[in-house]
Amino acid sequence: MKIYKTENYEEMSRLAADMIAACILLKPNAVLGLATGSTPVGTYRELTECYRSGRLSFQEIRSVNLDEYCGLTPEHAQSYRRFMQENLFDHVDIRRENTYVPCGTAENPEEECRRYSRLIRELGGTDMQLLGMGHNGHIGFNEPGDCFVPDTHRVMLSAETIDANARFFASREEVPTSALTMGIGDIMAARHILILISGVDKAETAQKAFAGPVTPEVPASVLQLHPNVTLIGDKAALELLEASGVEMCR
Ligand code: GLP
Repeated sequence: MKIYKTENYEEMSRLAADMIAACILLKPNAVLGLATGSTPVGTYRELTECYRSGRLSFQEIRSVNLDEYCGLTPEHAQSYRRFMQENLFDHVDIRRENTYVPCGTAENPEEECRRYSRLIRELGGTDMQLLGMGHNGHIGFNEPGDCFVPDTHRVMLSAETIDANARFFASREEVPTSALTMGIGDIMAARHILILISGVDKAETAQKAFAGPVTPEVPASVLQLHPNVTLIGDKAALELLEASGVEMCR
């Protein structure tokens, strides 16, 4: 795992955008695995800037998103489809038909999950998977549990995740209680994984995930087993990890 420590969130976002841009320049029809949450917002802003200044095109890019809330339509203000439209897709030249997000209102969620895992395989797998990490170590919506679930599946959200995401909704009661998420196998099949971590409130979990044992109780810890992971974090998020003696590239 290569770990880059940055001064702050802005520098983390610029470096992440540079790495994604490099992936796109080397493979203009790459399959990007994309993430939601506050962490990648700055990265999407930087990528939009690269497009606006004529340095980058998304014309041939295909994208697969990690997850979606159950019960929210694509138009819902807090759906992850809407998040992607507002934070990236509406501002660059990606073709909407080449962007995929699990359907949170599918009549048969189990069938939708099977379709989504199949779709990722049919696209040839993801070239670069962007990830954030929840406070409890979740990636996508793979919550802490007894085992790693390989394929796209439906999850019940933990009370902690509902609390953390309540800030985006009018009240806690409005936060969906379940979601569809890529499984750990879908994520680990990516050729390159880029995980971003920002803020002192993630420092303890970052230490557990990357300096502790690999365990489904800290889902992000599974990334230690992937041969090509880049972690970019700001110094606040990486402080404890560095104190554990884990080497940083810079
Ligand atoms: C959500 C998403 C994750 C994301 C996590 C962290 O639950 N499903 O993909 O990584 O939140 O979000 P944030 O970046 O806002 O801390």
